[in-house]
Amino acid sequence: MNTIVIANKKGGVGKTTTAQNLASALARKSMVILALDMDAQANLSRTWV
Ligand SMILES: Nc1ncnc2c1ncn2[C@@H]1O[C@H](COP(=O)(O)OP(=O)(O)O)[C@@H](O)[C@H]1O
Ligand SMILES: [Mg+2]
Repeated sequence: MNTIVIANKKGGVGKTTTAQNLASALARKSMVILALDMDAQANLSRTWV
C-alpha cells in the first residue's frame, strides 16, 4: 500500500484539485484508491463521485 499526501498551509493553491485528479487517474489504471480529506472544509469528500 502506498500513501500520497498533498499538503500546503496556504489555501486555494490546488491541493484538492490535484488530489481529485490524481485519484481519478490512478483509479483508471485499476488501482484501488481511498481518498481522505484532512481539511475541515472537506471539499474532496463532498465532491468525490
Ligand atoms: N492547475 C490549475 N489551474 C487553474 N486553476 C486551478 C488549478 N488547480 C486548481 N485550480 C482552481 O483553484 C481553486 C482552488 O483549488 P483547490 O484545489 O480547491 O485548492 P485548495 O484545496 O488548495 O484550497 C479552484 O477554483 C480550482 O478550480
Ligand atoms: Mg481543498
